[in-house]
Amino acid sequence: MQRWTARIDPPWSLDAWRAAARIGLAAGVAPEQIDWLEGGDASLLDAPDLAGALPSHDPAAAPVLRVSKVFLELAATVLCHRDAQRLPLLYRILWRIGRGQRDVLSNPTDADVLRANALTQAVRRDSHKMKAFVRFREVPGEDDAFIAWFEPDHHIVDRVAPFFARRFAGMRWAILTPSRSVHWDGTALHFGGGAKRSDAPADDSREDLWRTYYASIFNPARLNERMMRQEMPVKYWKHLPEVSLLPTLVRDASTRVEEMHARQAQEPQRRIPQAPVPLPPTPAEAGSLETLRARAAACRQCPLWEPATQTVFGEGPAGARIMLVGEQPGDREDLSGRPFVGPAGQLLDQLLAEAGIERSALYLTNAVKHFRFQRRGKVRVHQRPDREHVQACRSWVAAEIEHVRPDVIVCLGATAASALLGSAFRFSQGRGQWHALHDGTRALVTVHPSWILRQGDGPAREAAYQVLLEDLRKVKDAPAP
Ligand code: URA
Repeated sequence: MQRWTARIDPPWSLDAWRAAARIGLAAGVAPEQIDWLEGGDASLLDAPDLAGALPSHDPAAAPVLRVSKVFLELAATVLCHRDAQRLPLLYRILWRIGRGQRDVLSNPTDADVLRANALTQAVRRDSHKMKAFVRFREVPGEDDAFIAWFEPDHHIVDRVAPFFARRFAGMRWAILTPSRSVHWDGTALHFGGGAKRSDAPADDSREDLWRTYYASIFNPARLNERMMRQEMPVKYWKHLPEVSLLPTLVRDASTRVEEMHARQAQEPQRRIPQAPVPLPPTPAEAGSLETLRARAAACRQCPLWEPATQTVFGEGPAGARIMLVGEQPGDREDLSGRPFVGPAGQLLDQLLAEAGIERSALYLTNAVKHFRFQRRGKVRVHQRPDREHVQACRSWVAAEIEHVRPDVIVCLGATAASALLGSAFRFSQGRGQWHALHDGTRALVTVHPSWILRQGDGPAREAAYQVLLEDLRKVKDAPAP
């Protein structure tokens, strides 16, 4: 039997695999005739290159391979697996499709399909773990540059890198792994060879922050070690700064639960900032909330009104006990004219329900009343408001506070906090604490629901969710002034 060699380089490349498979099919080379090689692997059999199987010896002459999108997606994922048998497996499936078994992929009991599905799942799981467990460390001596070390099971760096580019678009970062590295310079992704663990910084001050944060959100009453190990498998622990805390937190959990039962409910801590920042005066002749709303609809104090669909003013009863202040309306809010109706709003609704707070009893508003976005094709991508936009809207927020006179205000995220407490306010230091506005109104600063959504689907998201939930519970239980 004539044998041929097909080399796939890099070994996860769909293009490289497709080019080889196209030649094989065009030349009628059966699956058992091909020795598949990855990257720089040496050939044991010394068989000639598959391109020689074509009568013209010209790979470009092979007809273009037409396959379904489903097969292509499967192939792109399976190629990321490290199992060397994936290359002949994919070719065998393709060969069978080409020989009339067009529905082979819809047969979940077929041995080849079963194997391909298992490989797909393993790659997806590995990708998910990378998204959840990569931890960046600051590069000493460089501003805003971060490196993470990670050891994936499969060839997933190229596949997962765009996720980090979207998530950390404004940072310069690199992820190093033993066989591949990727670097984001703020504009483009650059891929390179493998690295050593010692090439990444060992620790940085952020890890203390992360540990403090983890220890503060760790709820001993909800400790479930089996779930914890399942969600955060032991092999990833070496990447995670918070893991060094686990033995102590787990050991002390039962004592802490007993203490929690024994402890009286605490008064919220009221921390008065040195110099509360006065809010601007309420616009003259403001009248009722409805009048304010109508006037804000015509606001032209900053340029954001122009591309936005409409002003999104606050909503809720004038005497609401609690006022929630977000950052700015998103795409859905801009279209509907109501605050917190998009994905962040839906998550907020879920959190409010869990914390036992009625949304209809709240006054919900935003620090900035127009949607700031950048157009990318058909999509309007959220852009953080600048200080000038926050400044321009402060008189509207001040007027809302004046009319609603809430007992407590919740600042969701850093933009709301700086609008109400001043631009010198340090979110990372003041989160979870009570502060006082210039008129003595208590304000709790907490995270924004969008931040939770940005944490992906893993344990980081659950941790972030708990942070906001705990803070909302503090608000619900805050005694009247
Ligand atoms: N994010 C906000 O801050 N406010 C909204 O209304 C929606 C999303």
